[in-house]
Amino acid sequence: MSSTLFRKKKVEQSIQDTEAPEHALRKSLSALDLTVFGVGVIIGTGIFVLTGTVARNSAGPAVSLAFVVSGVVCGLAALCYAEFASTVPVAGSAYTFSYASLGELPAWTIGWDLILEFALGTAVVAVGWSGYIRSLLDNAGWHMPDALGGRDGASGFGFDILAAALVLVLTAVLVLGMKLSARITSLVVAIKVTVVLIVIVAGSFFITSDNYRPFIPHSRPVEAGGDLQAPLIQLMFGWAPADFGVMGVFTAASVVFFAFIGFDIVATAAEETRNPQRDMPRGILGSLLICTVLYVAVSLVVTGMENYTRLSVDAPLAGAFKAVGHPWYAGVISFGAAVGLTTVCMILLLGQTRVFFAMSRDGLLPRFFSHVHPRFRTPHRPTVLLGLIIAVIAGFTSLSALAELVNIGTLFAFVVVAISVITLRRTRPDLPRAFRTPWVPVVPVLSVCASLWLMLNLPVETWLRFAVWTAVGFLVYSLYGRSHSRLGQRERAAAATAGSSAGGPSADGTR
Ligand code: ALA
Repeated sequence: MSSTLFRKKKVEQSIQDTEAPEHALRKSLSALDLTVFGVGVIIGTGIFVLTGTVARNSAGPAVSLAFVVSGVVCGLAALCYAEFASTVPVAGSAYTFSYASLGELPAWTIGWDLILEFALGTAVVAVGWSGYIRSLLDNAGWHMPDALGGRDGASGFGFDILAAALVLVLTAVLVLGMKLSARITSLVVAIKVTVVLIVIVAGSFFITSDNYRPFIPHSRPVEAGGDLQAPLIQLMFGWAPADFGVMGVFTAASVVFFAFIGFDIVATAAEETRNPQRDMPRGILGSLLICTVLYVAVSLVVTGMENYTRLSVDAPLAGAFKAVGHPWYAGVISFGAAVGLTTVCMILLLGQTRVFFAMSRDGLLPRFFSHVHPRFRTPHRPTVLLGLIIAVIAGFTSLSALAELVNIGTLFAFVVVAISVITLRRTRPDLPRAFRTPWVPVVPVLSVCASLWLMLNLPVETWLRFAVWTAVGFLVYSLYGRSHSRLGQRERAAAATAGSSAGGPSADGTR
């Protein structure tokens, strides 16, 4: 039985599956498209919203260091992702990579985990987007009824209609085709990056050096918010809960990690890339580098403009400009944030449907979902199904806890990918690798340790929720995926053929 749980899909088989016409996605993306995709999904709620919360609660001006820590963790993971994406250029990201290297059960686990990451990530960003739109509407003097507004802190029945509507519109855009999506994305990414550059350049004229003192605020004990809300690492070592100080920077890093989520999604578009061997690594590493530099600059500028204790929690970038008496800039920034979050949401949704598509193509989820649309060549069935589910989640849910769950799922995926790099180097040294992770196994091992470290800095309750989701996944796999796996069916057919050709002759007494 353990051999079936760890049966591996050959890399050649993965590539061959993508070539069957009814399952083939259109290959239309270049390295530039991929980088634009990456930047499009990476810069979002993390920098526009979480910077303020994290500076106020955990790190002060050292939130910029938290971005550096998270950037390093992601950089290590990116070096591993890039090798896999350039070796196994098919849809499905870490799911596909681990199917080729670790086996079916680990691949299922990671695919299930990626569905969680992308679906909840889409919902989180849609709700953040809705908040910015409402704030712009408020400026124009039009207030949304509470029952149709955001769910954060709201009481009674309500449905965030803007968040749900955004998800549904983006679902339609994705069904219509990649190229259309990529064009829209390019325009929106340009607006978003412009706004970020405005914050950096215009904001730098308003920096007051006093705001940087102390750069890392002294550690300060906090009232325990219950064991479930404490980072797992504090519980493990029995440390007294504390904010700020050096450990505060790591707590902050495990939260602002959300700001980097997305570079791994570039890898999910490998199958739709014209020259994945060359363009994948460029797309992944390029987008990550650009975003890290921008994040560090933005967080330095914003904490320099306004004392971290006074930063706005909802819109810290716009709030900093209001604080220095420039509300006009604040309006432009709010507009850019609202526009920018649209692409983040869309690309998360795209990554989500592609993982689902790859899993159903392998028979681990119903094969009904793996047929591409005859005209648009997009996986319309999983796109529509997941779009509807996420729209409902986005309508009814609040942000905070979901974001941490997204982080733990993504970090777990990083761990699996890094392990897979080492495994595949040993089991398939012969495969051509357009991009090779440097210093294997040192870099993948460092990537595993760094990702685990950030995971340990997440709250205990996040770990529990993640455990429940994983357990449900195992149940679905044992009840459906294991018996419907195409790889398993092929292996059984081959065994039956071998058995009948070996058993036939002896039955008629010729041997
Ligand atoms: N990195 C994306 C964001 O910050 C998910 O919203």
